[in-house]
Amino acid sequence: MAAKNGKPKVAIIGCGGIANGSHAPSLKRLQEEGACEVIACVDVNAAAAQRMADTFNIPRVFTDFHELLALDELDGVSVATPPFVHRDATVAALRAGKHVLCEKPMAMNVAEAKEMLAVARETGNILTIGHGGRFSAAAQAIHDRVEAGDLGEIYYGKAAALRKRGVPSRGVFTVKKLNGGGPLIDIGVHALDLTLWLMGSPRPVGVYGATYDKLAHRPGIAAQNSLFNWGPFDPQKYDVEDLCAGFVRFDNGATLFLETSWLINQPEAEVRRNEVYGTAGSASTNPFHILVDTGDGPKDVAPEVPSGRDGQQGNFLRFKRFLDCIEGRAEPLVKPEESLDVQRIIDALYQSGETGKLVEIGD
Ligand SMILES: NC(=O)c1ccc[n+]([C@@H]2O[C@H](COP(=O)([O-])OP(=O)(O)OC[C@H]3O[C@@H](n4cnc5c(N)ncnc54)[C@H](O)[C@@H]3O)[C@@H](O)[C@H]2O)c1
Repeated sequence: MAAKNGKPKVAIIGCGGIANGSHAPSLKRLQEEGACEVIACVDVNAAAAQRMADTFNIPRVFTDFHELLALDELDGVSVATPPFVHRDATVAALRAGKHVLCEKPMAMNVAEAKEMLAVARETGNILTIGHGGRFSAAAQAIHDRVEAGDLGEIYYGKAAALRKRGVPSRGVFTVKKLNGGGPLIDIGVHALDLTLWLMGSPRPVGVYGATYDKLAHRPGIAAQNSLFNWGPFDPQKYDVEDLCAGFVRFDNGATLFLETSWLINQPEAEVRRNEVYGTAGSASTNPFHILVDTGDGPKDVAPEVPSGRDGQQGNFLRFKRFLDCIEGRAEPLVKPEESLDVQRIIDALYQSGETGKLVEIGD
């Protein structure tokens, strides 16, 4: 793998919240470090594309990603559109010979995710999903310990992504047919991805879950939506769950408990936690600890890791890794096969929530 001509030339598809908040600033920084050239950005909303191009000094602007993908010199794209576009943009880019970093969730459903994976395999181009959480210093330290076997056999995990009042009120996040679902596919996907990876990526075989829409349509709740100053959401345009709880069983006998919500009556504004439990220890990302039992009870062996902004560099490092992959210096940290498994769990949780039945996960 290598860039076609000198430094990797990259472009951004979708110029909304996450593109302006993470994709464009990260790639601009990497460009300043000499690691890439950002040659274009695309949005169906021409004004949004032009605004981002002006802010980050991006030379070319398109409103149709097919036109962008016709550029020979382009090596890779990041896809930062809403989920209903992920499959189409990714498949078109891979088929045009480009490498792809696609935002989470991988896709709207398993069928789309499978197609994306199949085209990545067929074309040999890179496909990775943008989970920044795996790159945090705490997650890396836990993963290293699990890989080394220091926590013994990992047989239980807990994943939480819970917000008191945190519905993304811009874009299409609350519209099932455009976003694929609510908090489960939006933030539960991060919790699942990271916890599964910390558990050693076991293969999911069955799911039992429940989804609720208990708060979103209660009078007065929309106006309380305060996280990140997002402001009120529109309950009329809200047809997704507001909470999902689920239990996942893996082929190695391990299990995982997931809870995720945009609206729950809890004290904290937001809880994000990934926990793994093994026969010789346990670990949690928040509060960060790694307990190892070497014979006289579990003791914390967690290293000092940077806190605050320095500890949260995942959203930058995912782009650095993507460029390293394009240059042939690294393999994707987030493999599309792993993201397909996360998507399988999500689809099964939605199905279980609807039917009230246990759902087996096949191929
Ligand atoms: N990794 C993270 O932590 C994180 C955080 C926020 C959002 N996201 C994900 O990023 C994606 C985008 O979220 P957002 O918050 O930026 O949404 P947004 O609504 O703010 O922006 C999406 C942009 O995509 C554009 N768009 C829609 N269809 C398009 C098309 N066919 N071609 C080109 N552009 C198109 C829209 O006009 C809009 O400007 C979602 O999948 C979301 O889940 C990830």
